[in-house]
Amino acid sequence: MISIKSSREIELMRQAGKYNSLVMKEIAKNIKVGVTTKYLDDVCMKKIKEYGCEPSCLGYEGYPASVCISINDEVVHGIPGKRKIKNGDIVSVDLVVSYHGYHADATRTFIVGSVPKEVEDLVKNTEQAFYEGCKVLKDGTRIRELGAAIEKYAHDHNLGVVEDLAGHGIGSEMHEDPEVPNYDDGSNIRLKAGMVIAIEPMLNLGTKDVYIEDDGWTIKTVDGKPSSHYENTVLITEDGYEILTGD
Ligand code: MF3
Ligand code: CO
Repeated sequence: MISIKSSREIELMRQAGKYNSLVMKEIAKNIKVGVTTKYLDDVCMKKIKEYGCEPSCLGYEGYPASVCISINDEVVHGIPGKRKIKNGDIVSVDLVVSYHGYHADATRTFIVGSVPKEVEDLVKNTEQAFYEGCKVLKDGTRIRELGAAIEKYAHDHNLGVVEDLAGHGIGSEMHEDPEVPNYDDGSNIRLKAGMVIAIEPMLNLGTKDVYIEDDGWTIKTVDGKPSSHYENTVLITEDGYEILTGD
């Protein structure tokens, strides 16, 4: 079932989105060479609590941290730990916070120091793929049209589109219907004003193929090439959309 949010729910999700952005900014400030991903998780947890929010990922199906931090060839769901950030890393921070029971989900990929031009372009183009998808959004858009727009932009830039993971509806649950793939899956489900979805292209410098690490969480590229991730929580409106996790 795909839920249509009430104006009260939308207002709470705007608040959750605002706090998500503030926590993300605090994490961003602390991403530096030599810092451990566990330290970033601590910063995240502290800020979430300060804002009266909850970390949605902590304890979700046993996930052990308040945020997912995935570096280079890690696509998503990297677990914070002792590992230190290095010059030339790309660091994806995937953050979900809840406020009065409503979730907001966003991801940013940060470049640390200097990276090859192709990696810089990967990060930029993943963000742009999100916005290319948004251009088709309005009441009545089919989910496949959103996926097709993201996929076209990615393929035009020679990037692999991860198909094993997708965006999702979001609200009082972190993951709700519908599934929101980053490619044309042929489904004719339509978006309606009042739906809220997390749109999250995961694009690879190499092929689309991914696998799951022995820790049971971390998803990595099979070819070892870097992957970038960009995500916002988005409200569908009559004639367009509103990003709830923007600045
Ligand atoms: N934003 C991530 C997702 O939509 C949240 C993962 S939380 C975790 O998949 F607990 F599953 F890691
Ligand atoms: Co998500």
